Amino acid sequence: MKPVIHLRDYRPPPWRMESIELVFDLDAEITGVQTRMVVAQDPDQADIDLRLDGVGIELLSVSVDGRQLGKGEYRLEPDGLVIPGLRGRAAIETQSRIHPSRNKAMLGLYMSGGIEQGFLLTQCEAEGFRHVSWSIDRPDVLARYTVTLRALRSRFPVLLAGGDVDGAGELDDGRHWARFVDPQPRSSYLFALVAGHLECIEDAHVTSEDRQVRLLIWAPAHSIGLCRHAMDCLKAAMRWDEQRFGRCYQSGIFHVVATDDFTMGAMENTGLNIFNSKYLLADPDHATDDDFRRVLAIIGHEYFHNWSGNRVTCRDWFQLSLKEGLTVFREQEFESDLGSRTLRRIEDVRALWRSQFSEDSGPLAHPVRPDHYREINNFYTTTVYDKGAEIVRMLSTLLGSEAFRRGLDLYFSRHDGAAVTVEDFLAALGDANGRDLRPWLAWYSQAGTPQVTAVGKYCQRDRSFELTLSQFTPATPGQPQPKALPIPVSLALFDHSGAALPLKLDGEGMPSGGERVVVLDAAQVSLKFLDIECEPIPSLLRGYSAPVRLLHDPPSRDLAVLAASETDGFNRWVATDALIRRAFACQLDADAASTEAFEALADSLRAALADTGLDPSTLAEMLTIADESSLGEMRESLDPEAVFLARASLERRLANALQQPLRECEARLASTREGMSASAQACRRLSNRCLSLLCVADSSHRALARSRFRNANCLSDRLSALTCLVHAIDSDARTELEEFESRYREVATVMDKWFAVQATRPAPDTVEWVSNLGRHADFSWDNPNKIHALLSNFALRNPRAFHRVDGAGYRLVADAVIRIDLSIPQVAARLAGAFALWRRLEPVRRELMHVELLRIQSTVPISADLADIVSRALGEA
Ligand code: TRP
Ligand code: ZN
Repeated sequence: MKPVIHLRDYRPPPWRMESIELVFDLDAEITGVQTRMVVAQDPDQADIDLRLDGVGIELLSVSVDGRQLGKGEYRLEPDGLVIPGLRGRAAIETQSRIHPSRNKAMLGLYMSGGIEQGFLLTQCEAEGFRHVSWSIDRPDVLARYTVTLRALRSRFPVLLAGGDVDGAGELDDGRHWARFVDPQPRSSYLFALVAGHLECIEDAHVTSEDRQVRLLIWAPAHSIGLCRHAMDCLKAAMRWDEQRFGRCYQSGIFHVVATDDFTMGAMENTGLNIFNSKYLLADPDHATDDDFRRVLAIIGHEYFHNWSGNRVTCRDWFQLSLKEGLTVFREQEFESDLGSRTLRRIEDVRALWRSQFSEDSGPLAHPVRPDHYREINNFYTTTVYDKGAEIVRMLSTLLGSEAFRRGLDLYFSRHDGAAVTVEDFLAALGDANGRDLRPWLAWYSQAGTPQVTAVGKYCQRDRSFELTLSQFTPATPGQPQPKALPIPVSLALFDHSGAALPLKLDGEGMPSGGERVVVLDAAQVSLKFLDIECEPIPSLLRGYSAPVRLLHDPPSRDLAVLAASETDGFNRWVATDALIRRAFACQLDADAASTEAFEALADSLRAALADTGLDPSTLAEMLTIADESSLGEMRESLDPEAVFLARASLERRLANALQQPLRECEARLASTREGMSASAQACRRLSNRCLSLLCVADSSHRALARSRFRNANCLSDRLSALTCLVHAIDSDARTELEEFESRYREVATVMDKWFAVQATRPAPDTVEWVSNLGRHADFSWDNPNKIHALLSNFALRNPRAFHRVDGAGYRLVADAVIRIDLSIPQVAARLAGAFALWRRLEPVRRELMHVELLRIQSTVPISADLADIVSRALGEA
């Protein structure tokens, strides 16, 4: 097992690289790598030997200042090379060989597409550069890279690396070369190269500093036609970052490359972003409306890293959220400014509740800035990304957007070109505004989801309303006694007709505004509002102003008022979500109050369906019941099947009760749902949501789903109709599945959806179905997208089949984990995360899942990634 690394043990690098020059002789089977770097020792650490990182690299020779070292003059370790006795400053040269076509793990230099036709690319975050060359591979060692690529022109016509082009030309025997030089230093994790047969589309952007930037998007020939949307998104992202955050791009060229073979979403390598095709390729026939929005968001995300990540980078991997949390926040704001803020917020909060809250309450819980890790790959988590973004959002809410902008400006200018920490970030935001933000560090260092309790008391006599807020954070592994955090609570008070009341706190002379942000910064805080005419309805955490669990149980009729009248779109949705959860709880516990909660919900949704002023995509979300993992999340001794059945019958009852208005609403949208405008997409979302509920209500509506499938002119319609049919468990929709398959056989990203629809079919025999699809000709155990489509979806989004009480679902996934670990450890470890909830399950399933975890743990060989996840999931800390 790898050793545990602790944040408290951080030391500045004993050696730095002043420059690094790499020469690659590229080939699929054997690539030659020559590296020359000038290294310089930190005078304060003059006794420490030079150690170069390197893993799985065949070393041919190493020399110091031009003299080749003999065998006894250096020491090879499993993950490095030590040159004892070297002091001061030296030029180190290494010659080595690597084998890209054998690299199945997709970390370092590897092939995308077959060995005959495919292209070469790199992935270096977090610790991939050590698989490419010997070097000092840590984010706080920055250097200017000079990269020369050489290869057969016929096999590798396109040669790309980050940085400015510094010449290109022909060599003998059909080879050619190209050289790239960095204008600014960068960390090794941002190194990238790409080589092979690729097509491109080109466009241009003129920055607000008047710099001409060439924009090139590259993809294999068969998918280059699907890149236009990404290009438009890229231009929008560049403009937006200039306008909203004053951030310009610094160089004359920016490349984006699409690959089908990528373990994550995309990668922000300086000047050469690399994208998983599923987040880049889009046209209406090959991508859903959600995909279009995701391309916008991720293109933005990677581009925004240029400042939040690349120019200002992380001192060490503990600070990962410094770049990821901030960049997710920037991405959210980008999509919110260009599209629907409410929809994006609802989606983010749903995801936070479903994934982050459960991570934070289980054995894998960790702070946004972890204080130790064994395998950094396993810390690219929803906590680091999404809770990290929530912290940045709280700071922006607290400071207000102008002050926040001032703070970020200072952060970027103060630390441009440096590798920094979360403390530096808080200091910059604080210094720019004369505030001490150090108390906020606790949000980064403490795991667990705070619970906020709200109790209101109206006093008729002095017409005051007292709101008492208190907080409590449950213990997490290694943190037995969490402390109180600063929690911004944005709130408004409504009267029973749905009008917002002017707010005047005790001690204030005049009421001002209808919304306040108060900071709950102690265990308990009380607020007294004056001149309140009648008992008000509080609306708390508007816009979800803090990532906490709100324990507040207003009467259903109050929720109904908020569902009808809240002016904050997000809290309007939250009110229906709360009604849904209440009705669900009654359903699950077979509670007598069941009808009352259900009727309140049905009435609210009926009113929402009749409200022509309501944004269609918000309405679509109001009509979407939270998924099983979110609904079951707080329950002990969880029976996932019972949760599934209760949710399904709630949905059926609701769909039945709303049949008439759903049909009318669906029909009304016929004229407004065509095309790709934002409003058409919103209408289509609502219309497809109605259709799906109608199919749940009554099988007669499947005729409409079938005709929508047949006549669809976009993937959104075709796929949602297909989903209605496949998920109606008494019809197997064979014909439609075959039709879809033959239509899209050649398009990997769409075939992923074909696998996903089947993997999420909510029926017990989906276990066998998935097992058969694992042998399908278009499935591949070497491709992360295929694995996510079939297996992650099965494990995370199909509780009915995954949690089958005979354990067949668990066995299927454990077998897959073991198999995948032999080739792509990162993906295996991620999939194994589905077992982390085992302790919360009822006894029978708990034991079954436990057995599978132990079986995975005992396989030999096992990767460091997988071993780390499994031992933490088992609670071995
Ligand atoms: N930094 C990438 C992002 O934008 C994440 C990423 C891409 C990654 N590829 C990776 C992380 C491989 C770990 C390993 O969020
Ligand atoms: Zn990122």
